[in-house]
Amino acid sequence: MGAAAVFVALAGLKPAATIDRQARAQSPDPFAGLKEKFTRPGFVPYPADNAPTPEKIALGRRLFADKALSSVGTIACASCHDPRLAFTDGEVRGKGVTGRSLARHTPSLWNAAFSPLLFWDGRASSLEEQVHFPVEHPDEMGSTLETAAQRLARDESYRGAFLAAFPEDPEVSPHSIAGALAAYERTLVSPPTRFDAWVAGKADALTPSEVRGFRLFAGKGRCISCHVGFDFTDHNFYDIGLPDGDRGRGKEIGLPAADHAFKTPTLRELAWTAPYMHDGSLATLDDVLRHYEEGGLDRPTRSRDLPAKLRLTDDERTDLVAFLETLSSDTPPQPSTEPWVAGGRPVSPPPPQDATVVSQINKTFNPGHVRLKAAQALTVLNDDTRTHNVRIFDAKLNFNSGAQEPRESVTIRFPQPGTYEAFCGIHPSMRLTVEVK
Ligand code: HEC
Ligand code: HEC
Repeated sequence: MGAAAVFVALAGLKPAATIDRQARAQSPDPFAGLKEKFTRPGFVPYPADNAPTPEKIALGRRLFADKALSSVGTIACASCHDPRLAFTDGEVRGKGVTGRSLARHTPSLWNAAFSPLLFWDGRASSLEEQVHFPVEHPDEMGSTLETAAQRLARDESYRGAFLAAFPEDPEVSPHSIAGALAAYERTLVSPPTRFDAWVAGKADALTPSEVRGFRLFAGKGRCISCHVGFDFTDHNFYDIGLPDGDRGRGKEIGLPAADHAFKTPTLRELAWTAPYMHDGSLATLDDVLRHYEEGGLDRPTRSRDLPAKLRLTDDERTDLVAFLETLSSDTPPQPSTEPWVAGGRPVSPPPPQDATVVSQINKTFNPGHVRLKAAQALTVLNDDTRTHNVRIFDAKLNFNSGAQEPRESVTIRFPQPGTYEAFCGIHPSMRLTVEVK
């Protein structure tokens, strides 16, 4: 998807530029640099072949709540992703058509649109692709998208809704069901809370205790090394030391260096989404903080981005929880009903640079867009403190570096001219475009 993804403005999302510059100019804000890391996006990414329309979103909303998608008509997406619980189910591990407990905890769907890979282990690479999994999982909905399509096609009102949503190709099909559900899910962009007002320059929007909590979050707690951006996630995978046997990302990509690593979840709307973590093992935010203080299981894969020896006083814990609570709405938020700005506008990739060496410091490919001559090879140097995993999936080149430890470099030769997209299997927020002449 990478380069194919284009971006559309969602009305109501204020771009970074709305930070109150005047207020800043008058008295320098000690948090200005940090606040910039949390400014709200002006756009929601979507793939070029599934532009959102009001009709598609409305159809997706209806499908999301429809139990007809499941084998015996008892379970809808919303049964597990309940809008009244910020699209979670309140269970440690949810249950679908068979009543058997699922392997992992149901995550919130807020801000999933911004995640390059879906699921705790990143096994789906778009919201469109993701839809197949719950519908076809024997314990979740136990059906197939094909069966669901046949069932829905018998309903006249659905036929009309698919025609309105997909005028070019109105057939009720797995493809259109997935497209509509994904378009609906992309409207789940967290609404602004008091924290956003504070970031935008309203100094008294947070209490002194909440500001102290933010200081701990960004400083001593080191939370910001992974929970960053308006949605409080870098979308990467880390082992934070939870003791269950689930290998997570490592099993998915066959890379022991990524064992027990799970996707960093958004911290928006946490007030509605307990219990926490991929295994639902932590009941409260206080439990979460105590987990980070204890440090979890000490094993080789445990992330070095975690705070080494975090000790919080009772007051500090209170402040940090108070801060986390400012990221939640006062009542469970509803999907955005703002009209989509027609047409969208593609985000231009960084300009290409003639370079044969790419750095990876701070989880970023730099430069992020390189141009090579046909005979040139590309060296990707791990000058970061973390293990990386360079991957290219392309009809012309299937490349997987395996575990690339700090200081190791990998050399990639490209078989043919063309444009190649590379990413890190452990930190998929890292994207690299390579143009070979
Ligand atoms: C029986 C409960 C259940 C049902 C029904 C269900 N889900 Fe889920 N959903 C889950 C669980 C559990 C996970 C996490 C699984 C994992 O990561 O291995 C999940 C993960 C997801 C994710 C990934 C979120 C992220 O940030 O990575 C999306 C998106 C999603 N579900 C959408 C849907 C849609 C759309 C439907 C209906 C077609 C649906 N789900 C039906 C339980 C359910
Ligand atoms: C090394 C990266 C990293 C750091 C540092 C980090 N987190 Fe996390 N956080 C994660 C990951 C990954 C998960 C999910 C882990 C899992 O389920 O196995 C998570 C889960 C959470 C959750 C549960 C959210 C949910 O919906 O289940 C909360 C709350 C949280 N972190 C808060 C914090 C706070 C507060 C700090 C600082 C004290 C912090 N995190 C530091 C990566 C990190």
